[in-house]
Amino acid sequence: MKKILVTGALGQIGSELTEKLRSTYGEDNIIASDIRRPENPSGIFEEIDVTKEKEIYEISKKYNVDTIIHLAALLSAKAEAFPKVAWEINMGGLVNALEAAKQLDLKFFTPSSIGAFGPSTPKDNTPQDTLQRPTTMYGVNKVAGELLCDYYFSRFGVDTRGVRFPGLISYVTAPGGGTTDYAVEVYYEAIRKGAYTSYIAQGTHMDMMYMPDALNAIIQLMEANPDRLKHRNAFNITAVSAAPEHFASSIRKQIPNFEMGYQVDPVRQGIAESWPDSINADAAKEEWGFEAAYDIDNMTVDMLEKIREKLKKDSA
Ligand code: SER
Repeated sequence: MKKILVTGALGQIGSELTEKLRSTYGEDNIIASDIRRPENPSGIFEEIDVTKEKEIYEISKKYNVDTIIHLAALLSAKAEAFPKVAWEINMGGLVNALEAAKQLDLKFFTPSSIGAFGPSTPKDNTPQDTLQRPTTMYGVNKVAGELLCDYYFSRFGVDTRGVRFPGLISYVTAPGGGTTDYAVEVYYEAIRKGAYTSYIAQGTHMDMMYMPDALNAIIQLMEANPDRLKHRNAFNITAVSAAPEHFASSIRKQIPNFEMGYQVDPVRQGIAESWPDSINADAAKEEWGFEAAYDIDNMTVDMLEKIREKLKKDSA
């Protein structure tokens, strides 16, 4: 990767990835894009509506990029509320991005998710290659996306790569409309109120990962030797399998009086229950050497410290 276009650059992953790519590959080599222009973009920024057929192609050509990292998408709960819009953005955007990669001969990354699995998938130690019959629109989009990326690789030779992200936890940009968002909210509320009411029920396990590991995964996979990649577009990756009470006990090691309550949202609970409890990430380790550095406790320490600094700055 030398010159990279990032779509969805203002989102949860994009906002941090863009900065990391700028410091790794040079300010002038990263083109951030999103549906709206921020007030003060911190580097090169272009407005792109991924659903418009030619916009990704035109900006890729204008800057002569060699890689597209396509992150523009709706998350699971939002997609359940607006399924047709989700199809248009998640699938329409993806095919437009893949077409640009095909026509300009670019490397390509887009994330899949634990949402690509469904209730009939084995729940524990979910294999890399297994049954995928998701029951959410987001899941349908993710499975179709994995297949579409495989297709552009095998049919047109586009160098497509991707991972199935677990729930991502970060303090920089809030996720929006995901099922795993509680695992971000819990840290903010722990600091603000010393208490959190979870919309996901006790005992509901999902895979989770701290953002620095997720960013490293993207770069590591994109720089990996293609001869070693047997899977390409949908590597299971994980850091921890955790339920709300595990976040509560990890936070209590830092904030002893922290209290966790429950008021379950049936929609997001239903989505969570249709996903695996813990996935097997051996293929990512074997094929490109990925291992997460953060477990739940060192993530908790870092999250709480960074959120405290952020809230102090915001109120200053
Ligand atoms: N974090 C995402 C969501 O909850 C899953 O990929 O929708």
